[in-house]
Amino acid sequence: MADIDETKGKETIEELQTEFGKGKIAFGVLDVRKKEDWDQVWSQAETFFGGQVQGFCNNAGIFHETDWMKVKEINMDGMLYGAMLAYDRMGVKNGGEGGLMVITGSMASFLADGFDSAQGSVYSVSKFAVGGLVRSQSSKKIYNIDKVRTVGICPWFVDTNLVRTNTSVGVIESTYKMRVLQPEEVGNAFERLVVEGRPGDMLTVMPGTTFFWPNWNRKLIVLFVMASKISRKVFGISSENIITEQDFLKIGVVTLFLVFLLFHWILSWIGL
Ligand SMILES: NC(=O)c1ccc[n+]([C@@H]2O[C@H](COP(=O)([O-])OP(=O)(O)OC[C@H]3O[C@@H](n4cnc5c(N)ncnc54)[C@H](O)[C@@H]3O)[C@@H](O)[C@H]2O)c1
Repeated sequence: MADIDETKGKETIEELQTEFGKGKIAFGVLDVRKKEDWDQVWSQAETFFGGQVQGFCNNAGIFHETDWMKVKEINMDGMLYGAMLAYDRMGVKNGGEGGLMVITGSMASFLADGFDSAQGSVYSVSKFAVGGLVRSQSSKKIYNIDKVRTVGICPWFVDTNLVRTNTSVGVIESTYKMRVLQPEEVGNAFERLVVEGRPGDMLTVMPGTTFFWPNWNRKLIVLFVMASKISRKVFGISSENIITEQDFLKIGVVTLFLVFLLFHWILSWIGL
C-alpha cells in the first residue's frame, strides 16, 4: 500500500497486519505527483514481493471545487505516472511478465454535467482521462504489446472522506434520490473485476447493481454517420446545415414506425 498520508497509512498497515500477519503487507510513502516517489515505492514493492509486481491498483484521487490544478495533478498526472511506470515495470515489452492494473474512474468518467463550477468539473476531466487510457486497451493492439490487463472501476458516490469533506452523504442522497455506496460494495465489485475484467473494461458500480459500461462508440460512429445521411435525404436537410439531436430522434421514430409496419405486414402475409 502506498499513500501520501503516512500516519493513516501506518495505522491501516497495523490493522491489516493484525488481521493477516506481519510480512503480508507493507507501506510506502508516495505523493503520486512525484515521479521519483513512484520509482522508489515501486522498487520497494518489488523487494517486498521478491520479484516483479503482478497487480497494481491506481486509486489515489481527490475532489476540489476550486483548486482544479491540484485535481489535475493528482487525478490525471499522478494516475498517468503510475500507469506508465506499470507498463515499464510489468510490461512484456520491457522483459516483464505482464500483469493487472485496475484504475479508479468514477461515474464522472461518463457524465460531466453535474458540477457546480468549471473548476469543479476538472474532476470529470481527470476521470474521462481514466476512460481514455483504459479504453485504449480494448482493441487488443496495446494489450498484446505489454500484456498488462488494464481495467477501470467506476463507482457512483461512495461514503468516504472524499465525499464527507466536500459535501455530505445526506445532501447527495436527497439530490439524486439514490443512496450512496458503502466502500465494501466497491470492494466486492473490485474482486469480480479482477477475476472477470477484460482489457479495456470499465465496471460501473451502482447501488444494487454492477455492469460493464458498453464500449459501443465505434459502432455508434457508424450508426450516426448512416443516420445523419438518411436524415438529410428523408428530411431534405442540406449539407450546409448540421444534423441535430432532434433530427436523430425524428429519424429514430420514423425507423421504428417502418419496422412496426413491416412486422405488421409480415404477420398479415403469413395469416396471423
Ligand atoms: N468517494 C466517491 O464518491 C468516489 C466515487 C467514484 C470514484 N472515487 C474515486 O475513488 C478514489 C479513492 O477516493 P476515496 O473516495 O476513497 O477518497 P479518500 O479521500 O478516502 O481516499 C483518497 C486517498 O488518496 C490519497 N491521496 C490524496 N492525494 C494523494 C497524493 N498526492 N499522493 C498519494 N495519495 C494521495 C489520500 O491520502 C487518501 O488516502 C479516487 O480516485 C476517487 O476519485 C470516489
